[in-house]
Amino acid sequence: MPIIAPSLLAANFLNLTEECKMLNESKADWYHLDVMDGRFVPNISFGPILVEVFRKATTKICDVHLMIEEPGNYAEAFKKAGADILSVHIEACTHLHRTIQQIKSLGMLAGVAVNPHTPVENLKDILANIDLVCLMSVNPGFGGQSFIQHTLHKIKQLREMIDEQSLNVKIEVDGGVTLENAKSIIDAGADVLVAGNTVFKAADPIGMIAALKNL
Ligand code: DX5
Ligand code: ZN
Repeated sequence: MPIIAPSLLAANFLNLTEECKMLNESKADWYHLDVMDGRFVPNISFGPILVEVFRKATTKICDVHLMIEEPGNYAEAFKKAGADILSVHIEACTHLHRTIQQIKSLGMLAGVAVNPHTPVENLKDILANIDLVCLMSVNPGFGGQSFIQHTLHKIKQLREMIDEQSLNVKIEVDGGVTLENAKSIIDAGADVLVAGNTVFKAADPIGMIAALKNL
């Protein structure tokens, strides 16, 4: 069964109490929290203050996806805010290994996110040190975009790399996940499905989460 990680970016921010209550009552496994700085991506979302709010609203795992430059400078702040998993972009880290060590030494699980144009081969020498790869299946910055089909090929490739080394690294697919394409994403080897609009804009979000979970 896939891990379902709804992206709160698509939630109704005027009604977060109800949105969190819905998620807590649903089969969702993780809260996926998208942090954007207006530099690494052309959009600004929220920072540690809101992560702390979500942390208090749930006992589920808080999966924080940093789409920011110099993410190492903020690792401690997100730990304090209550992040369980902290993912940084490979494209934003000159000293990726150091940043991963920093995240782990703070007591969080470490993830590496990769943009659609970044080959998964670039993860070869970091794979043994991380817990999660967040494969972007849209260009990061906005919810509600269409899934880039080439990602299916990247999922398969990454699955082989992980299995060859018998590593315990989860593959998370982020962007444009729908009820229609989710099965092919899981069949390609994904462990975690991030879903923003598909969940929060559904007529029945709890039912949608259950449907994704039971694929
Ligand atoms: C995009 C974010 C995604 C986004 C997913 O930059 O990383 O997590 O919120 O939203 P949907 O599922 O609507 O594509
Ligand atoms: Zn994300």
